[in-house]
Order: sequence, then structure tokens, then C-alpha cells
Amino acid sequence: MHNKLAKSHSPSSFTVAGIPVPVRELHAGHRAAILQHFLQLNDDDRRLRFGTQTPNEVIERYVEGLDFNQDTIFGIFDAQLNIVGLAHLAYLPVFKSKARAAEFGVSVLVKGRGQGFGTALLGRAAVHSRNTRIETLFVHCLANNRAMMHLAQKAGMSVEYAYGDADAYLTLPPANSSTIVEEAANKQWADFDYVLKANLKRANNSWSWLLGRPTLAT
Ligand SMILES: CC(C)(COP(=O)(O)OP(=O)(O)OC[C@H]1O[C@@H](n2cnc3c(N)ncnc32)[C@H](O)[C@@H]1OP(=O)(O)O)[C@@H](O)C(=O)NCCC(=O)NCCS
Repeated sequence: MHNKLAKSHSPSSFTVAGIPVPVRELHAGHRAAILQHFLQLNDDDRRLRFGTQTPNEVIERYVEGLDFNQDTIFGIFDAQLNIVGLAHLAYLPVFKSKARAAEFGVSVLVKGRGQGFGTALLGRAAVHSRNTRIETLFVHCLANNRAMMHLAQKAGMSVEYAYGDADAYLTLPPANSSTIVEEAANKQWADFDYVLKANLKRANNSWSWLLGRPTLAT
């Protein structure tokens, strides 16, 4: 085994208070929610996420250009079904002599930070990468991005620094029955979580309408 994520086989590996974090794979129908997520990042976070100043128009083009058939996008939803944590797993072109690789980018809204969401997204992306025959997972970020560096090192990634940038690498072993089961379990849990939140949101909206005032935020 090469690293900590490679060693984690059970669905409980990415848990908060013993409960797995529900990480959902997103599709093109989530484009508007993805855009909303990115637009809520402040200038500093956008620089950390995209490596440069990123105005709204650039984010809009980036979200329009997301190819859900080529790449995989993961999200963590709050009770209002807003995306609080988002990860983009971009598959890099395959070259005969090189290991199959993917690049991981992540953002968590300020209100969701420090609760293990970034770790859960990285863990889910690593398992999905293994299950889709990816051998190397990359994270490219600014060298002064201490939170991301901490996440990467905690996951056992090797980090190389150059000219203010940092490249973190994770060598992944092939998939096995545990990684397949782990991903299937997290998928089911995330679907259940989403349906539950959607029903609660609908019930909340109905009560607000009946009472003629907003009910407590869930
Ligand atoms: C990086 C980011 C995704 C982390 O999300 P998160 O949900 O807070 O991550 P987690 O809660 O899983 O873990 C954060 C860890 O970093 C640590 N951390 C946070 N800020 C830190 C800092 N300034 N220096 C060192 N460690 C820090 C936390 O203590 C925690 O460590 P622990 O798990 O050992 O307790 C989030 O900060 C973010 O969206 N940043 C802006 C975008 C970005 O930088 N993206 C990465 C480049 S692709």
C-alpha cells in the first residue's frame, strides 16, 4: 500500500462523528447549483481554488464548459440543497507510456469548513479514481494554501514545490472488491441523504405557506 487513502477500505473512512459524509456524484442538472457554489467563494478562495483572480464571468464559462461525461463532479449538500462542498475530478489525457492520471480540485464554503467535508471529497475522489483505473491523483495549488497542503499531507500525498506552486501526488493501487463496495455504499447513502433533505425542505416550505411566515431554517 502506498498511502493512507489507499489503505482506507471501509465506507466509514470519511466520517464525521462516526457518520459517513454523504458525497453525491453530480450531473448536468446541477449546473445552476454548482455555479451558485462558486459564486459564493470570495476573491481569496477563488484564487486558492483556480490559482488566479477569477471574476464571475470566468466562473460562468467554466461551469458552462463542465463535461459530465468526461469528468466527475462530486457535491455535498446542506439542508437547503445548496452545494456546500464541491470537487472536480478531471481525467487527464491518456499517454501510452504514462500512468493514467486525474486532477482533483476542491472548494468548501466557509460555513462548511473544518467539518471534514474537504477530506471526504478527497477520499471519495480517490476511491472513484481507483474504481475507474486511475493510477495517479494530482492536486495543483498555491504553495501557501495551508489548508489544502494539510489535507494532502494527511492523505499521504507527496508534495513538490516550485515557483510558489505546489503539486501533490497520490499513487493509487488498483481497485478491489472493498473499493467497489465502498463507492456503492457512499452512493446509496448520498442518494438517501438527498431525498431526505428534499422532503424536509418541501415540508418546511408547506408549513411556511400554511403559517404565512418562514419556519425555522433546517
Ligand atoms: C481546502 C478546503 C477545501 C478544506 O475544506 P474543509 O472542509 O475545511 O476541510 P476538512 O474539514 O476536511 O479539513 C481541513 C483540515 O485543514 C486544517 N486547516 C484548516 N486551515 C488550516 C491552515 N490555515 N493551516 C493548516 N491547517 C489548516 C484543519 O484543521 C483540518 O485539519 P484536521 O482534519 O487535521 O483537523 C477549504 O479550505 C477551501 O475550500 N479552501 C478554498 C479553496 C481551496 O483552497 N481549494 C484547494 C485548491 S484545489
